[in-house]
Amino acid sequence: MQHGNKVKDAGFGRSLLVRPRRLRMHPVLRDLVCETRISKKDLVQPIFVRTGNKSKSIQSMPGCFQLCLKDLKKELEKIEKNEINAIILFGIPDHKNEIGSIAWQKEGIVQKSIEFIKKEYPHILVIADLCFCEYTSHGHCGVLKKINKKMDVDNDATLLNLAKLSLSLAHAGADVIAPSGMMDGMVKTLRTALDEKDFSHIPILSYAVKYASGFYGPFANAAENKPKKGDRKTYQMDPANAKEALKEAMLDIEEGADILMVKPALAYLDVIFAVKQRFPQTPLAAYQVSGEFAMIKAAAQKGWIDENRLIHETLTSIKRAGADFIITYFAKDFKND
Ligand code: PBG
Ligand code: ZN
Repeated sequence: MQHGNKVKDAGFGRSLLVRPRRLRMHPVLRDLVCETRISKKDLVQPIFVRTGNKSKSIQSMPGCFQLCLKDLKKELEKIEKNEINAIILFGIPDHKNEIGSIAWQKEGIVQKSIEFIKKEYPHILVIADLCFCEYTSHGHCGVLKKINKKMDVDNDATLLNLAKLSLSLAHAGADVIAPSGMMDGMVKTLRTALDEKDFSHIPILSYAVKYASGFYGPFANAAENKPKKGDRKTYQMDPANAKEALKEAMLDIEEGADILMVKPALAYLDVIFAVKQRFPQTPLAAYQVSGEFAMIKAAAQKGWIDENRLIHETLTSIKRAGADFIITYFAKDFKND
């Protein structure tokens, strides 16, 4: 009941036993009861390396570059200065062909970059992304063949090439192998290939649950991997499906995956949650992809949102949902609260 300016409590107010606001009064107390914290140790920075001696800025991803070898050093220094110790590498080659065989050449850009990083920055963890779309002339994630009168990715032929690629990256010194092509059986194939060649110590981070997502838009500009024809819906997952995510996760665990990934992250928090609940024993990564990055950057550039708040809020929600660590383009500029 209201009398003039005064609001009378409803009668029970003074005797409330539980007042959640008590714990929000003091900033230090808020910190003490905080449930989820993002630390720099949770983050992995993606890096694009290109052949030649000229770096290129990536239009669709402000602050990101396709780096030539000599500029890679500067970027690693920046990353190191910000106490980020893990990176994932993507290569942009100068030649493409039907099967993407440039990907597994000893002198390939990713191989050379890994060798350089392991020599100059031995404490940085190097994750090598494993896919062919940056290397094939048609832009698909593997070898094509005619299936039902249409060209499509030949799953098992692609597995053979993935095995070659994994060995080439392991030889170069990659610490972790991360297949991202969503081929059936890719984890088992890679585990077998690595074990046979004495790389049984190298973990596999499987892009187990990767959706056919519009959020990869800006990445196509960064990695030059857009399919000339068609889309990736015959190998990447339908965004409508969450139970299927559990199937993919289960298969990859059975095949020997050491770490699983869900990608993208923000629009799939329910999937991250479900996978973590069902398979708590397997570490789970999430990839905050190019579109998630670009949306925040673009709105911040317009002054419509506070970039740093959004970085913290999105990363926190991804971790809160169940991710153990996050691959994000924001890593190198991440500031603690
Ligand atoms: C390709 C690949 C993609 C990304 C990483 N590896 C995109 C795609 O499937 O087109 C997306 C990463 C991003 O958008 O940040 N295998
Ligand atoms: Zn691909």
